[in-house]
Amino acid sequence: MSSKMQPVRGTRDLIGADARRHHHVAETARHTAGLYGFEEWFTPIFEDTGVFARGLGDTSDVVSKEMYSFEDRGGDSITLRPEGTAGVCRALVSNGLTQTLPQKVFYAGPMFRYERPQKGRYRQFHQIGIEVLGAAEPLADAEVIACGWQILNRLGVADGVVLEINTLGDDASRDAYRAALVEHFSAQADKLSHDSKLRLEKNPQRILDSKDEGDRAIVATAPTIDAYLTPEAAAFFEAVQKYLTQFGVPFRRNPRIVRGLDYYSHTAFEFVTDRLGAQGTVMGGGRYNGLVEEMGGPATPSVGWAAGMERLSLLMEVVGNNPQPPRPVAVIPQGDAAETPALALIQKLRQAGITAEIGYRGNLKRRMERANRQNARAALFVDEAGAIQLKDLDSGEQRAVSEDAAVAALGG
Ligand code: HAM
Repeated sequence: MSSKMQPVRGTRDLIGADARRHHHVAETARHTAGLYGFEEWFTPIFEDTGVFARGLGDTSDVVSKEMYSFEDRGGDSITLRPEGTAGVCRALVSNGLTQTLPQKVFYAGPMFRYERPQKGRYRQFHQIGIEVLGAAEPLADAEVIACGWQILNRLGVADGVVLEINTLGDDASRDAYRAALVEHFSAQADKLSHDSKLRLEKNPQRILDSKDEGDRAIVATAPTIDAYLTPEAAAFFEAVQKYLTQFGVPFRRNPRIVRGLDYYSHTAFEFVTDRLGAQGTVMGGGRYNGLVEEMGGPATPSVGWAAGMERLSLLMEVVGNNPQPPRPVAVIPQGDAAETPALALIQKLRQAGITAEIGYRGNLKRRMERANRQNARAALFVDEAGAIQLKDLDSGEQRAVSEDAAVAALGG
């Protein structure tokens, strides 16, 4: 066995440009969600296994094959969160907020799924997400989607990303559609893949999502939900589309979207791209009206989405959107005796909000090399009497300045 320590398969370190893009995704999403009135919640990274097992549906891949579950030292079954929605709904109930609705929640953080790792798919990944808890109106669905679209735009990655929407209908629509699908697929059951044969019994709609080549031919001729929608479900979907148009969010209908988690009804949507290879879904979500009840709360119709931060970050890289660290000001003491006034100066700069660096040692040449490596925008040379020379490292201009003049010139 190699003695070199490696990250666990499917996990990654984020350093340098990767870390900066990751940070930018979170900050942009947090700020944009704030414009829509969302407030950030922080829920635990692990929960009782039941929160997910009950909430996400035991026919979902996430629950049946992908959860990181373990027994802790007290014998309780714990699961690292595979997504954020169930925990947010659990928190709504635990914190007695079910009478203070709607709640508009933003979250960002790590999630864990035991999936086969590949580009854009990891075992520890990160999501940003928003949830409107306690709003039955189709305007909430459209607002949530509009917020997602604005985030993609502000990240500069909206080009090449398409919003696909669908409706899964209400309970009555689903029952009727389910019966129609069972009829369609049962007639050709012998040609279905092993997985889809199992789905036929448990959750036939998931067959629509199958990646199996043989299944796809059978899926192509399957009925769509439209003929089975109740008038109420059809009107709801119409209204969502009307509001999306009013918000100026472009979309297209994809009747094959079913979503991988079982809690959805009515609106289901995905922002997809062909720029990331196989892992093309950057943001996905929809309406879920029964999840808060699963957590022991009252009926609380809700809608939201989550996006993979790694995928957003990869898209930023594709379009060349690479945030740079702020260019520092290099403070350079001329000789050991100049260190004292140099330290006083650098603290003034930092207190004024200016990014400033000082080398821990080295002669003038070394310090200048370091400043260039850091892409410093200016150097401040300080002598032992505290006299300061300000050099603009882009223009090469140099002049004597007072401390206050240096701070003012550098934008403090
Ligand atoms: P989801 O479709 O399972 O939905 O995940 C949302 C997004 O998380 C995906 O579109 C993808 O970008 C990212 N993602 C999922 N798994 C991975 C992975 N293994 N590696 C990298 N990225 C991944 C949910 O999680 C729902 N909670 C969304 C939601 C919120 N629905 C309503 N509210």
